[in-house]
Amino acid sequence: MDRLAIIGGRPLFGEAPISGAKNSALKVMAASLLTEETLALTNVPRLADVDMLLRLLEQHGVAHEFNGSSLSLSAKEITSTEAPYDLVRKMRASFNVLGPLLARERQAKVSLPGGCAIGARPVDLHLKALIAMGAEIELDEGYVIASAPNGLKGAGISFPFVSVGATEHVMLAGVLADGETIINNAAREPEIVDLADCLNKMGAKVSGAGHSKITITGVDKLSGADHEVLPDRIETGAYAMAVGATGGELTLTGAKSDLLGAALPVLIETGLEIEDTDKGLRVRKTQNRLNAVGIITQPFPGFPTDLQAQFMALMATADGVSTIKETIFENRFMHAPELSRMGANISVNGQTATVRGVERLRGAPVMATDLRASMSLIIAALAAEGQSMINRVYHLDRGFERLEEKLSNCGALIERVGG
Ligand code: EPZ
Repeated sequence: MDRLAIIGGRPLFGEAPISGAKNSALKVMAASLLTEETLALTNVPRLADVDMLLRLLEQHGVAHEFNGSSLSLSAKEITSTEAPYDLVRKMRASFNVLGPLLARERQAKVSLPGGCAIGARPVDLHLKALIAMGAEIELDEGYVIASAPNGLKGAGISFPFVSVGATEHVMLAGVLADGETIINNAAREPEIVDLADCLNKMGAKVSGAGHSKITITGVDKLSGADHEVLPDRIETGAYAMAVGATGGELTLTGAKSDLLGAALPVLIETGLEIEDTDKGLRVRKTQNRLNAVGIITQPFPGFPTDLQAQFMALMATADGVSTIKETIFENRFMHAPELSRMGANISVNGQTATVRGVERLRGAPVMATDLRASMSLIIAALAAEGQSMINRVYHLDRGFERLEEKLSNCGALIERVGG
């Protein structure tokens, strides 16, 4: 298993290109199942999660070709409507093929995704919404067996709480349904807007994306389209926090500040200077220790749960006490004990972590537990005195494109060690 060796204490200077958003790419890729024509995507990150979804799409009959960050997908004919356990269990986003398969083929058999390191992550909202749209659903031996013999019908769907995946799933199913689907309490993440843009380019009628009420008027057929995936706001925030932890100045090329939601004012409150430029976002640290700031994770435009772990690493050396409350996932503090191994002073009580900033962290061997937790350990290691060895970096490969290359180009001492 690969590990990353990092020698900390060096500021970051230069340019780091921000890739296309993983969590948008995965959903627009699933949209390729909705048309016989070619969906040509650009700015697609080369990540393990993208490859895994490609394998699943391939076995549904989707032909694909990757060229740099351009990916063309062509589902001329759906050759299988089954999504097997082995491909779905490793990545929950795969579950979102259910809606498009049902919409186009009127039937599908898709494995339930199961839990993951950060929480149980059920799919009850996805299934209830599809049932409201006329799907008949049975659960059998860990699989969802779904059919819609008369096609999916538009429906009014009111989510009891915000779910990114369920909102996207209803959009992917509703675009080919008969009639109008209205989603109330929809997620408002930029990735939802990106998916709506892509679907509309394919001929769909989706309005209201980015607001809590989304209206979808079903159409008979969708066509191919060209679509550029939006920049990754979580990668953007993580690299900005890396500057905050190490010092220096980075231009995050291609990044956009308006995608950061509440993370932008929070980072500015810590004392970081952040500015939009022609190239992207310039991030600069001018004070020795950052200010401690408290956060509560919330759906967009609130502070994203996907930046909570990285923010904890940043607060580990801030001047003061920071309170971090996680409200989206029930088990997303596994990085806290690992950060403590590096000298951070963190106490966790239920869904709240209290971080008392220390002057400096010390390098240590640590273990990555999930994607964003891994990035939190990288940020801490870049700031720490001495060497850290980060184990289980396969988590990182799922979501951060060319991480070692991007960081070492900006002056970090980071090396992948095999075995
Ligand atoms: C998406 O997951 C992202 N994944 C996650 O990113 C992100 O953390 C999350 O949204 C929140 O922003 C992708 O886009 C591929 P949810 P998703 O449905 O859609 C509960 C990363 O690191 N829930 O908004 O699965 C759920 O358990 C990943 O890139 C139900 O109870 O998140 C959670 O507590 C991790 N029933 C809450 O809702 C359901 O049917 C929000 O989850 C669905 C969700």
